[in-house]
Amino acid sequence: MTSKKFGPDTMTNKGMKKFFDFYKTHKSRALVGFLKDVAKSNTNKKRISAFLRKRRKVTCLILGCSYWSNPKDTVDFLKGFNKNLDINITVLDILSNALLEIVKNDIKCLPVLAPAQKTPFLDNYFDIIICDCLLTCCSFNQHEPVIKEINRIIKKRGILLLGVAHSKRNITFKMAERPIVNYCRPFADYKKLFGKYNFVFPKNSSIETHLPGKWSQIRIANGIVLKKTS
Ligand SMILES: C[S@@+](CC[C@H](N)C(=O)[O-])C[C@H]1O[C@@H](n2cnc3c(N)ncnc32)[C@H](O)[C@@H]1O
Repeated sequence: MTSKKFGPDTMTNKGMKKFFDFYKTHKSRALVGFLKDVAKSNTNKKRISAFLRKRRKVTCLILGCSYWSNPKDTVDFLKGFNKNLDINITVLDILSNALLEIVKNDIKCLPVLAPAQKTPFLDNYFDIIICDCLLTCCSFNQHEPVIKEINRIIKKRGILLLGVAHSKRNITFKMAERPIVNYCRPFADYKKLFGKYNFVFPKNSSIETHLPGKWSQIRIANGIVLKKTS
């Protein structure tokens, strides 16, 4: 059973297995699909390329990692912008099931079992943070503490790659094939919350898609978010 205070709502063991198995059969919904979306925007490609082109080393954090091959796919994505980059990947999740497969498959990264709102990292440590639908998987009251923590651990000119599911008003729902409770708020509310911690959403950055079938009113925005420089 999962903790009520931090992370997703409690799932049964059967539900949790189904949630993690979902990504084996729906690989495009794992991080590789998210990264492909991010790269569909020229704004994102230009910003990420300018950021990585001249660097030799980067520190990257995947905040919430449901599928074991995500760290490997992230390295391939970043090397697409600079093949000589030395990439130090850390992966954090509050559920050990999310991290065990990474260890079993001997994926090169540092797995950290911790809540996203109370991480063990130093201030201004990460060049890049990837947060794809973590906010969607935890209750509304956790959103601001997670954003505050991202602000603390990301470097001043770091890049946040963000995926959020959003809706016209605050709603929660659970899909049969991916039995975790989803929390969606309006995109404007995400912008306001991130804005409070000096993050800005560049124009033309978010690639908009939507969930399939009866959930098609739920939209997904995948893009980059930057720290204000002044
Ligand atoms: C939707 S999944 C990530 C999807 C991503 N595309 C992937 O494939 O890894 C969200 C993950 O975030 C984790 N999570 C949710 N809230 C969290 C929190 N407050 N702290 C740490 N992990 C959290 C969940 O356990 C889950 O594994």
